[in-house]
Amino acid sequence: MKTIIEKIRRGAESFTGQEEEALRRAGSIIRQGGLVAFPTETVYGLGGDALNGDSARRIYEAKGRPSDNPLIVHISRFEDIGAIVSCIPEEAVRLADAFWPGPLTMILRKSDRVPCETTGGLDTVAVRLPAHPAARRLIEYSGGYIAAPSANLSGRPSPTEAKYVMEDMDGRIDMILDGGEVGIGLESTIVDLTVSPPQILRPGYVTRERMAQVLGKVDTDVTIMDGNSGQAPRAPGMKYRHYAPRGRLTIVEGRPEQVAAYMNRRTEEDRANGEKTGIIGTRESLRQYRADVVKCLGERADEEAIARNLYSALRQMDQEQVTRIYSESFPANGFGQAIMNRLLKAAGHEVVKL
Ligand code: TXA
Ligand code: MG
Repeated sequence: MKTIIEKIRRGAESFTGQEEEALRRAGSIIRQGGLVAFPTETVYGLGGDALNGDSARRIYEAKGRPSDNPLIVHISRFEDIGAIVSCIPEEAVRLADAFWPGPLTMILRKSDRVPCETTGGLDTVAVRLPAHPAARRLIEYSGGYIAAPSANLSGRPSPTEAKYVMEDMDGRIDMILDGGEVGIGLESTIVDLTVSPPQILRPGYVTRERMAQVLGKVDTDVTIMDGNSGQAPRAPGMKYRHYAPRGRLTIVEGRPEQVAAYMNRRTEEDRANGEKTGIIGTRESLRQYRADVVKCLGERADEEAIARNLYSALRQMDQEQVTRIYSESFPANGFGQAIMNRLLKAAGHEVVKL
């Protein structure tokens, strides 16, 4: 299959004739059962018709993803939610008022319109109303309901730029809409509204604290930060080794000078053992690091830059064939919880505390 690439200007709120044409064409591909990767404000999605079981099956195949791992259904208007859920709890309305359109996914009881392929056999459905204008226009042109996981091969870091979608999906899907680099860089927050109190299954840009201001009590799935809880994560996708680079990754926690000294000593030993070494760090410490490849995520205080650059740094380590990677650790509160959740999963929870 030849994968067509069409460009949409980054940040565009309205579209040129050519962009409209590309979006309309992409929509018709999806309505006919095909697959289109598209930008959202979080990461690139791999879209198919959410109400067509065959499309869902094609998504699993293109990603190499186990079919018991459910997909998120993307809508472009709140009123469209009625067709795919069996009831709309009051919490959903309050969260939608506060955070939609935006990087929040709600788990609700599904209606019969949603095929079991889309939900991986579950009787619940994940729903998200993205903020990205091109994503929303595409959803409209596709008939209103796009099932879209992140547009990476299963297990790899989610793509934050179209070139990373190409790396994983060229020849496997019909089209890629290239909207440039995404804004947030980590996947949406997932909150389960079928339990009481509501529970966060995956942390993201919309934090627990902000949701608690709207809903009162909000819990967090214990498995999110704890690799040894002995429990299974409640979002099926969170149980797989995920977001991971090919090289082995260790997170190093401690005072900056200690961390730099430790990483430099270890990378020297690793190199003597024939490894190609890499360090993922922040602007403040960068000068101190002596690995073969050093990637900067931004300034330590700039969580948004760290989130936006994390997956790209992991992918660049792969590209440069780094086999042994060390990363700085980050404070896990607020949005930082999402950063550390992804980093811990990428590292298989391997952390050195100095
Ligand atoms: O930001 C995002 O959410 C991106 C963009 C493309 O919208 N999408 C994304 O999808 O991250 P994906 O498939 O990579 O991750 C979806 C996660 C998986 O961990 C899956 O198990 C979980 O959502 N999920 C989906 N439906 C669920 C359900 N009914 N119950 C529990 N977890 C569910
Ligand atoms: Mg994913």
